[in-house]
Amino acid sequence: MNIEEIRKDFPLLENRDIAYLDNGATTQKPIQVINTIKEFYEKYNANPHRGAYTLSVEATEVYENTRTKIAKFINAKHREEIIFSKNATESLNLIAYSYGMDNLKKDDEVVISIMEHHSNLVPWQKVTKITGSTLKYMYINTDFELSDEEIETKITDKTKIVGISHVSNALGTINNVKKIIKYAHKRGAIVLVDASQSIPHMKIDVQELDADFLVFSGHKMLAPLGIGVLYGKRELLNKMTPFLMGGDMIEYVYEQDTTFAPLPNKFEAGTQNVEGVVGFGAAIDYIEKIGYDKIQKIENELLTYARQKLSNLNYLNLYLTPNEENHSGVISFNIKGVHSHDVASILDSQGVCVRSGNHCTQPLMRFLGIDSTCRASFYFYNTKEDVDRLVEALDKAYNMFKNYIR
Ligand code: ALA
Repeated sequence: MNIEEIRKDFPLLENRDIAYLDNGATTQKPIQVINTIKEFYEKYNANPHRGAYTLSVEATEVYENTRTKIAKFINAKHREEIIFSKNATESLNLIAYSYGMDNLKKDDEVVISIMEHHSNLVPWQKVTKITGSTLKYMYINTDFELSDEEIETKITDKTKIVGISHVSNALGTINNVKKIIKYAHKRGAIVLVDASQSIPHMKIDVQELDADFLVFSGHKMLAPLGIGVLYGKRELLNKMTPFLMGGDMIEYVYEQDTTFAPLPNKFEAGTQNVEGVVGFGAAIDYIEKIGYDKIQKIENELLTYARQKLSNLNYLNLYLTPNEENHSGVISFNIKGVHSHDVASILDSQGVCVRSGNHCTQPLMRFLGIDSTCRASFYFYNTKEDVDRLVEALDKAYNMFKNYIR
């Protein structure tokens, strides 16, 4: 498939004359995903796991087949290691509340990086406060990367949990999670990987990484909004207490006590987002049809082009690792002396969609001494014309503001 054919699969890209560069926030959906959801409601809609009648059994099959598909997609050893959630945020809260609350005690340490999204930071503040443990940060160097020295200084024998984003949603830095996991395991800590910004762009193999937990959201990889995944090693998930209580996660319920269902149901209380799950399955089919090799080839070319073009604009501050091989997906920048929201509004008036603000990474922004950035984030359906449009719109914004910049 060439890029024109790919773009034709995305109705929104056909219907709107925009350069959509906010894929880090959510991606557009191909017609195959939209049609699969429609087909589910037209042919299979019933509540999975609830009915003995044929339609409910079929709905259960559609739902459970996607679990198997996702397990294969990330090379999980067991299909019940895949838990459906609302999004990566809910998956991270589940780990913090179920694993963190039960396993942390006074003087233990949780280590995360300064570039974590609030969803992999605020839950750890709460759980470390309750358990009397300590939250520590790995800081980035002037290349916007975590040095080996920083990793090895912060992860110690006191560390019980390491939380790390595979790719930073604000900087695009790719963290060497394999190395971090290996080092943390030597120190006796478990590691959770936030793959929200990596799995849309690169192949993930949880067994090869040896990740203890790994989370991601469907909507950043072509699937519908409101569906996420928690992967966890079976032996860890089996020992954990459920996070949410209610229907379908139980075995026996007595007046005063309850026993819980086995995995994965133990962590899926209440009626689930079945349309989200089946749409997720179609999104994975689409990604596999294009193939990660091709996705990476398109994106690497695009990112190299965008890095060059934006580096030529001397009125910009770029928050970007110089090491291209450690960079994926997003480019953060500011027009010197102009607030990111003002820049984003002018870009919008030119049909260019970027996110502006702190990107749910306030501690990172504070560490960098800024309050916000504009962020252009790319996916395999973006083109060099999108980048050119961004550059033209930036020139326009700069020319509008330049006389007011002090
Ligand atoms: N976490 C999403 C982002 O980085 C919403 O934009």
